[in-house]
Amino acid sequence: MKVLVVGSGGREHALAWALARSPRLSELHAAPGNPGIATLASCHPVHSDDQASLVPLAGELGIDLVVVGPEAPLVAGLADELRHRGVAVFGPGASAARIEGSKAFSKEVMDAAGVPTARSLAVARPPCVVKADGLAAGKGVWVCHTQAELDMGLRAAEALGQPFHVEELLEGEEVSLFAICDGTTAVALPAAQDYKRIGDGDQGPNTGGMGTYSPTPFLNETALAEVRKKILEPWLRGCAAEGIDYRGILYPGLMLTQDGPKVMEFNARFGDPETQVYLTRLENDLVELLDASVDGTLGRLELKWSATASVCVVMASAGYPGSYAKGKPITGLD
Ligand code: AMP
Ligand code: GLY
Repeated sequence: MKVLVVGSGGREHALAWALARSPRLSELHAAPGNPGIATLASCHPVHSDDQASLVPLAGELGIDLVVVGPEAPLVAGLADELRHRGVAVFGPGASAARIEGSKAFSKEVMDAAGVPTARSLAVARPPCVVKADGLAAGKGVWVCHTQAELDMGLRAAEALGQPFHVEELLEGEEVSLFAICDGTTAVALPAAQDYKRIGDGDQGPNTGGMGTYSPTPFLNETALAEVRKKILEPWLRGCAAEGIDYRGILYPGLMLTQDGPKVMEFNARFGDPETQVYLTRLENDLVELLDASVDGTLGRLELKWSATASVCVVMASAGYPGSYAKGKPITGLD
C-alpha cells in the first residue's frame, strides 16, 4: 500500500515510524513532513493546510491511504474532499471534526447524548474555566482559581476575538484516552498521561503538551469500562443521531473526578505528544489497523500492546508557549 502522512510534527514522525514497519507498506510519503520523517518517507513540500494541492498530490502519487495528523485540515474538510475523489483516508470528515473545531457544538452533542462533562456557567465566578470556542492549539483555555486569574482569562479570551464560554472547574487526575472508530465500533487504546503546563511540577501556562507516558495507573480496567459505557458508546450513538459517520480517532480529554470520569473536550485526531508513546507500545500492524477503521471492520481486530512503559519528553525553544525563536538546529540525537 502507498500511504501519505499529512503533517510535520513529532506525532507525524511517530506515525511514519510505525507505518514504515508494516509489511503491507510499499511506499511512504509525507506532506510536508520534517527532517526526521525524511529518513523514512519521501517528503513533498505541500503544507497540511493546502487542501487545493494535497488532493491532486494524493492522486498523482496513486496513494491508497492518507493519514491526517493535525486537526486544522480535518476541520477544513480534507477527509471529505479526498473521499469524494475516491482516496481512502484515516480521519473524520468536517461535520465530525467540528467536535474539536467548536467547543460549543461539542458540548451540545455531549448534552444531547448524556455524556458527563463540566457544567456550563451562566455567571463567571472563580473557580471556573474560560474557553475560546474555536481551534487555539491548546492555548484557548484559562483555568481560573482566583478573581485575578478570571479577569486575566476573560481579557485574553476577548482578545482572541472569537466566542467563548465559562464552565465548571473539574478537579481530579487528568488522562488522555484515544479510541479508534469505524462508524459503529470504538476501540480504546490504553490511556496516556500528558503534562500540559510549561513548568516543572505542573506549573505555569498551558501548552500543547510537554511530555507523556503510557501506561498510566489512573485508568484501570474498571475505570476504562465506565468510560466505555458512559462516554464512548453514548457519544457514538449521539453522533449517529446527528447523522455523523465517525471514522478516525476520537480523543476525549478526561478528568477523573470524585463523581466519575468527565469529558473536558473532544478531539478528532491523534494527540501530540501522546502518539509518540503509544506507537512504541503498539504491536499490531498500524497500516492494517487504520485500514480497518476506513473499511468498518475494526470489530475483527484485536489490539496488542507491549507490557513495557514508554515516556516522551518535549524540548521547546525558550519562550514557548509565548513567542519563541524558530529555526534552531537540533543536534546530539545520536
Ligand atoms: P482543553 O483544550 O479543553 O482540553 O483544555 C486544556 C486544558 O485545560 C485541559 O487539558 C485541562 O488541563 C484544563 N481544563 C479544561 N477544561 C477544564 C475543566 N472544566 N476543569 C479543569 N480543567 C480544565
Ligand atoms: N497533547 C494534547 C493534544 O494533542 O491536544
